[in-house]
Amino acid sequence: MFDHLSSLPADPILGLLATYRADENPRKIDLGVGVYKDEAGHTPVLQAVKEAETRLLSSEETKAYVGPAGTAGFNAAMQELVLGAGHPALVGNRVRSAQTPGGCGALRVLAEFANRAKEHATIWVSDPTWANHVPLLGNAGLQIKSYPYYDRATSSLKFDAMVETLKQVGEGELVLFHACCHNPCGADLSREQWQVLAEMAQRQGFTPFIDMAYQGFGDSLDADAFGLRLMAESVPEMLVAASCSKNFGLYRERVGMAMAIYRDADSADRGQSQLLNVVRGNYSMPPNHGGAIVEAILTDAGLRANWEAELTEMRERINSLRSGLVESLEKAGAVGDFHFIQQQKGMFSFLGITPEQVQKLQQDYSIYMVDSSRISIAGLSQNNMEYFCASVAEVLES
Ligand SMILES: Cc1ncc(COP(=O)(O)O)c(C=O)c1O
Repeated sequence: MFDHLSSLPADPILGLLATYRADENPRKIDLGVGVYKDEAGHTPVLQAVKEAETRLLSSEETKAYVGPAGTAGFNAAMQELVLGAGHPALVGNRVRSAQTPGGCGALRVLAEFANRAKEHATIWVSDPTWANHVPLLGNAGLQIKSYPYYDRATSSLKFDAMVETLKQVGEGELVLFHACCHNPCGADLSREQWQVLAEMAQRQGFTPFIDMAYQGFGDSLDADAFGLRLMAESVPEMLVAASCSKNFGLYRERVGMAMAIYRDADSADRGQSQLLNVVRGNYSMPPNHGGAIVEAILTDAGLRANWEAELTEMRERINSLRSGLVESLEKAGAVGDFHFIQQQKGMFSFLGITPEQVQKLQQDYSIYMVDSSRISIAGLSQNNMEYFCASVAEVLES
C-alpha cells in the first residue's frame, strides 16, 4: 500500500536548521528559524508562564476532557485580547471561537469551516505569504489565488497593485490578511491602508480572514490589532486565526484560537456548531496545558502585568536590533540602502540579496538564511552583529 510513495524534499527551514546544527564554525549564525531568541541565543520560557504553570500544577484537579472548544475562560480572555474590551462584535454577541493547537490549527479549522460554508471558495493570499498558508488552506479545499503585496526591488508595499487586484473580489470569496508583523516580509499596512481595505470589504462583500500570529511583537498589543479591530467593525462576517506561540513563547504547547464573527447571535450559534464539528472530525479537542497557561495569565492582573512587561522586552529587543542592523550595515560599507529594515515590524525582513549571495553567506561565512533572503531578526545579537554585517558587505562587493 505504501510502496509507491515517493519521498518529499525536506522542509527548507527545517533542512537549513539541520545543516546549521552540523556546522562546527563557532561564528555560525542561524537567521532561518522563526522563533524569538534572546541576546544569548535562547528561546526562554517566560517568567509569567513559569509562574502560571506552578499555580496550575498545584491547583489542577482533573485531566478530564475539556471539549472541542477548549475552556470558556480561555475563549473569553482571548477574544478580548484580540478584539479589545467592548468591541461592538463582542457587545453584539456575534463572536464565537475555539481553542486550537497553535495558529496552524486555527488556520486549518477555519479553512475547513469556510469550505463547508462554500465548497472550494477562493481565498486570496498576499504575494509573498507564509509558505505554510498554502497547504493549511489549500488542503482544506479552498482555492488559492494571490494578490500583489511586496515589491522586492524597492523593498516596499505594492499597495496600489494590491487594491487593483482586490477590486475584483466579491461576496463568497475570502481575503487573507496578516494582522501585523508580516511573515515573511515585515512590511505592514498603515492605518490609512487598513481603512481603504475595510471600505473595500464592506462595499464588495468579501470576507476578511485575518492571521494574527505576532500580536505585541510590532508596536503594542493594541496597536498591532488596529487593522483587525477596524475590519471587525466594518464587516458583518470575518474569520481570525490567532496564535499564542510567539507572544506567550508557548511554541511547543500548541495553543491558538479560531474565531469567527457572524451577522447576528443566531447565525453565530449555528456557525459555532459547524466549527466544533470540524474540530471533532480532526483532533476532537485541543490539548489543555497551553490554553490553561494563557487563561491564567490573561485573567490575573499580576501575571498579566508581568507577561506584558516580558512581551515589551522581546519587542524592544527586536526593534533595537532592526535599527542596530541598519546602522551596522552602513558602518560596514554594505552596498545598498537598508533603511527599510528599520521601518518594518516583527521577526522577519527580506535582506534583498540574491539566492547566490545567500548561498555564499552560508558556504563561506556559516550564516544561514532561507533562499529568499528572509532573515529572522532575533537571531542577531550584539555579539554577532559586526561579523554578520561585515560578511554581508563582503558578499555584496564580490
Ligand atoms: C504568519 C503565521 N501564521 C501562523 C503561524 C502559526 O504558528 P503556530 O501554529 O506555531 O502557532 C505562524 C508561525 O510561524 C506564522 O508565521
